Formats: sequence, C-alpha cells, structure tokens
Amino acid sequence: MITEPFDAVDVIRTKRDRLELSAGQIDWVIDAYTRGVVAEEQMSALAMAIFLNGMHRSEIQRWTQAMIQSGERLDYTSLGIPTADKHSTGGVGDKITLPLAPLVAAFGVAVPQLSGRGLGHTGGTLDKMEAIPGWRAALSNEEVRAQLASVGAVVCAAGPGLAPADKKLYALRDVTSTVDCIPLIASSIMSKKIAEGTGALVLDVKVGSGAFMKKLDQARELARTMVDLGTDAGVTTVALVTDMATPLGLTAGNGLEVRESVEVLAGGGPADVVDLTVALATEMLAAAGRPAGADDVRAALADGRAMDKWRAMISAQGGDPDAPLPVARATEQILAPADGVLGRLDAYGVGVAAWRLGAGRARKEDPVQLAAGIELHAKPGDPVTAGQPLMTLHTDTPERFPRAYEALDGAWELAAPGTVVTRGPVVIDRII
Ligand code: URA
Repeated sequence: MITEPFDAVDVIRTKRDRLELSAGQIDWVIDAYTRGVVAEEQMSALAMAIFLNGMHRSEIQRWTQAMIQSGERLDYTSLGIPTADKHSTGGVGDKITLPLAPLVAAFGVAVPQLSGRGLGHTGGTLDKMEAIPGWRAALSNEEVRAQLASVGAVVCAAGPGLAPADKKLYALRDVTSTVDCIPLIASSIMSKKIAEGTGALVLDVKVGSGAFMKKLDQARELARTMVDLGTDAGVTTVALVTDMATPLGLTAGNGLEVRESVEVLAGGGPADVVDLTVALATEMLAAAGRPAGADDVRAALADGRAMDKWRAMISAQGGDPDAPLPVARATEQILAPADGVLGRLDAYGVGVAAWRLGAGRARKEDPVQLAAGIELHAKPGDPVTAGQPLMTLHTDTPERFPRAYEALDGAWELAAPGTVVTRGPVVIDRII
C-alpha cells in the first residue's frame, strides 16, 4: 500500500484559508489527482478555492511544472532546426494557424502546432482542418517528428500523453464553473505548450466580446502570467494582445474558414487576417532566432512560398489540397434594411450564431457540421446599401436558422450614411 505524504483535505483547507500551497503539496495533489487518489469532488473544491483566492507566481509555476510532469515532454532539439509555435486563447473567425504554420515554415523554422477542437462559441483548429477531404488529425510522435523534418510544419491533435493532468482538470473545470480563472487558464495552456517541446512560443491573447477575456487589463494579466511561465521554463515567449470585439476576417465556421485561409495563402484575403498572420509570423521568426522583416514575410504569402508549404503539409497528412470544400445544404441571408454604414458587429453574437448553425459543439463528443457557419459581407465602417446582403448563414439543418437569428439579434447595428466608424488596430499590445 502506498502511504500518501499529504491529505487532500489539508491541501484544500490551505487554499480555502488564502495561504500559499507548498511545492510539495502542489506536486502531490496534481500527481495524486492523475492517479485517481484525489477524488473529483476534492479537486473541484480546490479548483474553486483557487478561483476565489488566486495563486502566487511561484505557485502557478509549480502547478504548471507538475502538470507537465504528469505526462511526456517532447524535444525536437535533435532535428537541428529552430522550432516555434503559436497559441491563441480563442476567438470568432480565428483561422490564423492555417496560413501561419506554413508561412513560418517557409522561412526554415519548424512549427509543431498541436491543436484542439472547438467548444462553445469559439472554433477549434482541428475542426477546421477536418473540412479538407482526407486530412488526418491524429499523428504519432514519430510521424510529427518526421513531418517536421520533411515539410517543416505540422498541425495535429495533441496526443494523450501530453499533460494528462490538464486533460482531466480541464474537463472538471468545464462543469464546475472554474474555467475563467487566470492562474488555471495560464497553467493549463502553458503546461501543454511547454510539454509539446517548442523552442519559441508566441501567444495571441484575445480581448473583447468574442474572447475569454472581455477586458484589456484581464487580457494583459493573462498574457503576463503566460509569458513568465514560458520564460521560466526556458521557452522564448512573447504575447500579442489582439482585438476580438468583432470577428476576424469574413468567415466563421470550419470549411468557410479554410476557404478564407487558402485565399490568404494565395496572396489575397481580408486585411485583418493578413495583418495578424504577418505580425504573428514576424514574432515567431524573431523568437526562434531567424528574424525577417514584415515585408519579407508578407511577400512569402504573395509569391506562393507559403502556399507550397501548405500543400505539402496537407498532403503529408493524407489531405487533398485541391479537393472541393464541403458546401452547406441551406443558406439564408440577412439584408441591410436601409442605406448606411455598418456601425458594429459583435464577435460573440456571430460566434454563437455560427455555433448554433452547427459549426460548433455543446459537448466534447458532439459532431460538427463542416460546412456550417457565417459569411460576412461587410465589416464595421463599410458603407452598405438597402437590400445588400450583410451576412450569409450556412447550415445542413435549416431548422437551426431561427436560433441563429436570435443570437444575431442586437449583434449588429446600422449607422447613418456617412458615419465615420473608427476601428482600432488588430494588435493592441505586445508583452515580453
Ligand atoms: N484553453 C486551455 O487549454 N485551457 C484553458 O484553461 C482555457 C483555454
């Protein structure tokens, strides 16, 4: 029989009473929870105590390390090429990983992008990539390594061996209202990113209605906490705080976002998607020790270098880069009721509507519709004329339209003709 060195009740009481958890307590509670010795109800109580009373920097760092140690830690240094990854805290229309990974790889920096699926109103990279016929998300560690060496970019599912304590804890937080807590979010994200073995990491911390963090000071605090965790673990880490008040680009939904990403890789696409892709790629290249100017990076989108990498990356995972993307069975449009200027378009409303059309899931095991989502025909500040389509709603199940319209009710506003709508920059802050 194993004699446990700590007691879960004492650990919970320590945090409940606003005291600092010791390194020994943290190491034990994460390990014992992973082994099933600390019960779900005990971890729920501890997560709520952390939610209410917070954690000091040293506690967050130890908690993150303990979650990394619950599983395997990958290492690509033997490949002899620099590696860089990007993590976004999630938003509406955030398809940036798709053009970004091949773009960075085109500069000789390998991108091991272990990604997740969408939950709630924010989309997930794997769901988007699965809109490409034949594409396979599940790769073994050996396949990831081989593809990094041959192509230089991999987008795939994180294997079960990576931070298993976080997998269990994240599922528990989801059902105990303890997700939106900076120490727990930061340690959850960073344990997976550090365990994945990247040498450099650029964080895209979203702020606004469509993001986890609704306020700028919260987003800055999350960014600061994650940058400190990465730096303490020896990973060169930088964060950009970016706008998620309005959707990114002109599409939200899996197949629709792949189409837009391919437009960006072909040298076109919406300006905000291109600008953010270039900004993040420039940061990743600098953090990986291969700096390139933003103009050079932009040129690699225009001249096909990034597209070549994309095609190689898709083919290596069984996908057909030339296959037609799925098309929804039904579409409906929202038309401008009068001449004017689109004054506001709320990311959260659009995200929820896309989700309700079938692009997202309510429970982890739910399937998603690959063709469902929303296509935007105007962004805030664009002039529109009466009768012009503002958005097209796509779904395979038209009975979903009414609930999507409910989500969009009040999510957009038409201003008088000639109104000047000021749109702030996509990148709001940079934290190192
Ligand atoms: N994404 C994660 O991986 N973990 C969190 O806690 C929140 C978002």
